[in-house]
Amino acid sequence: MAQTLLVTGGAGYIGTHTLVELVAAGWQPLVYDNFSNGSREALARVARIVGREIPCIEGDVRDGAALDAVFAQCASAGAPVTCVLHLAALKVVGESIEQPVRYYDNNVQGTLVLLAAMERARVRRFVFSSSANVYGEPEALPYTEGHRISPTNPYGRSKSMVETVLRDVATADPSFSAVVLRYFNPIGAHPSGLIGEDPRGVPDNIFPYITQVAVGQLAALSVFGDDYPTPDGTGIRDYLHIVDLARGHVKAVEYAMAHPGWLVTNLGTGRGTSVLELVAAFEKASGRPVPCRIAPRRAGDIGEAWADPSLAARTLGWTAQYDIDTMCADGWRWQSGNPDGYTTSA
Ligand code: NAD
Ligand code: UD1
Repeated sequence: MAQTLLVTGGAGYIGTHTLVELVAAGWQPLVYDNFSNGSREALARVARIVGREIPCIEGDVRDGAALDAVFAQCASAGAPVTCVLHLAALKVVGESIEQPVRYYDNNVQGTLVLLAAMERARVRRFVFSSSANVYGEPEALPYTEGHRISPTNPYGRSKSMVETVLRDVATADPSFSAVVLRYFNPIGAHPSGLIGEDPRGVPDNIFPYITQVAVGQLAALSVFGDDYPTPDGTGIRDYLHIVDLARGHVKAVEYAMAHPGWLVTNLGTGRGTSVLELVAAFEKASGRPVPCRIAPRRAGDIGEAWADPSLAARTLGWTAQYDIDTMCADGWRWQSGNPDGYTTSA
């Protein structure tokens, strides 16, 4: 029997790359997205990569009646939803500090409404986008999944609240499967150059900021602090290729289909890269200079963060494949071919 995999937030950065890998692995994804930050053009580009349209329903995860209709429609079409991959969320840390109610409503309430609709439709497999943000200040590095959970902002707290809810749901129903993925720092783009990260406004994250400097849309990168206790004084993160992250989702869905219960796992490379190392790798990959100026530390930033990725290797059979040079080369192919993101005609 045909099965549908419901992908909430499938029109976003991680969602579009994940769709490509899901289709390659033989899944039939159905996107459910309210387009608050996703793009129809991105889905059209995914269709070009995979050679077929990906069905999409415009809707909000906080709309239980709309979700009931989606589950009923799939069942009556002979392809019931058997698993939900829940990516839909708001994700800007600074915005979450200014608008906590909006973040808790979208990210926590949205997940509760989705879980209630799944309960009504008897769908019991769930994969959730969490974040390394839930760990907060490191007690020890690398972060293992057993590290203290101590998020320092509403965005991170919205993720840890959902993790708690999922643990309780999986405990209450032994046939329920919940896989929680704590992502580190996904960067780069699909090697086709057709899809990539397209933030609205000035990017908050470093990689799209660098690519926009290289393409001439922004003047210079502000390096937030060169006085951290790291070898070159700049912040260190665990950057991972977006295609590796996307493949991690395929493994997580396969795991959820086969294992009831609860699994929380990091998705990272286990390697740290400093801001200056990232800039140097990007300049080499792109052949473009990236002017930098040293600025004060960004409030709320930590100096160093990287993952222990061994649990994902043991449980999901997933290990990141691509190095920082490939992340930069693929990210540059996307940005240079699409200087205005998805509004660039391709
Ligand atoms: P994104 O903003 O590109 O994609 C999120 C998608 O969800 C968008 O298409 C948006 O329109 C949709 N959406 C948001 N709220 C919705 C709602 N209420 N109903 C339906 N659709 C809704 O973000 P992304 O980078 O692809 O992130 C995907 C997930 O991964 C998020 O849950 C995010 O918190 C998490 N995450 C991202 C990163 C990162 O670095 N990008 C890191 C850690 C965790
Ligand atoms: C941020 C989010 C986190 C999210 C992650 C990936 C915060 C506090 N946390 O983390 O929730 O999961 O992005 O999306 O925002 N940097 C600069 N100049 C810039 C931008 C960043 O020097 O213009 C530095 C930062 O100080 C940091 C590194 O680059 O050392 C990475 O920053 P960023 O891409 O924002 O990721 P995180 O801080 O890890």
